[in-house]
Amino acid sequence: MIDCDEMAQRAFILGHTAVGTAPLVPELRLHLATEVTPLWQATEDSLHRSGLPPPYWAFPWVGGQAVARYVLDHPELVAGRTVLDFAAGCGLIALAAARAGAAAVIAVDIDPFARAAIALNAVLNADSMPDGRPARITVATEDPMGRPVPGVDLVLAGDVCYERPMAEAVICWLRTLAGAGLTVIIGDPGRSYLPRTGLTALAHHLVPTLLDIEDTDARATTVWRVERA
Ligand SMILES: C[S@@+](CC[C@H](N)C(=O)[O-])C[C@H]1O[C@@H](n2cnc3c(N)ncnc32)[C@H](O)[C@@H]1O
Repeated sequence: MIDCDEMAQRAFILGHTAVGTAPLVPELRLHLATEVTPLWQATEDSLHRSGLPPPYWAFPWVGGQAVARYVLDHPELVAGRTVLDFAAGCGLIALAAARAGAAAVIAVDIDPFARAAIALNAVLNADSMPDGRPARITVATEDPMGRPVPGVDLVLAGDVCYERPMAEAVICWLRTLAGAGLTVIIGDPGRSYLPRTGLTALAHHLVPTLLDIEDTDARATTVWRVERA
């Protein structure tokens, strides 16, 4: 059941984005913004609030693109497994996991607009899913950070090391999950708070991006396996 807030969020997203693709993942379509600032301002106006975080959900971040590419190129990683896309943003990684044959996909993000965008993007990609139906992604509202994730085999996360407190907490939690036997993979372009140890490189990509969000038009990005502490 979709509540009134989510209906309004979905209408806002449809009214302020256009359908496009992430350069590294042309197989999947997304509701995307073309510029950060106007959308950010429109979000604040619509909620009558200021000081909101940027609309992360409206862009495929380079880390997420790299992980999604890796999943599509290595479907055996997710096939038949239960996958969590943590801090999912637009849900690109979750969509890739669903397309690659995951048994179940859970996407979680603290931003309600991200959760609405993931639901819309799941519908948008019905024709690229194995069964031709909207991507089967459970959009979770409860933040699992710091806790076990029962039933999940594989945790994927794109671009989660951009702020120190979040990066420290996320990496500590992901290492604990790796220690409990889960496979944990992140994508990151070498952001300031990415740890320098305890990661194994799986793939490298030069990922096209927007000057508006990265101050450059491409970033060297690595897919990392997070090792246990
Ligand atoms: C830079 S964006 C990356 C989005 C996506 N993974 C990608 O690569 O395109 C970071 C995302 O983390 C989400 N986030 C921040 N803190 C979080 C938390 N504690 N739990 C879940 N999501 C969180 C934000 O709302 C945002 O969507």
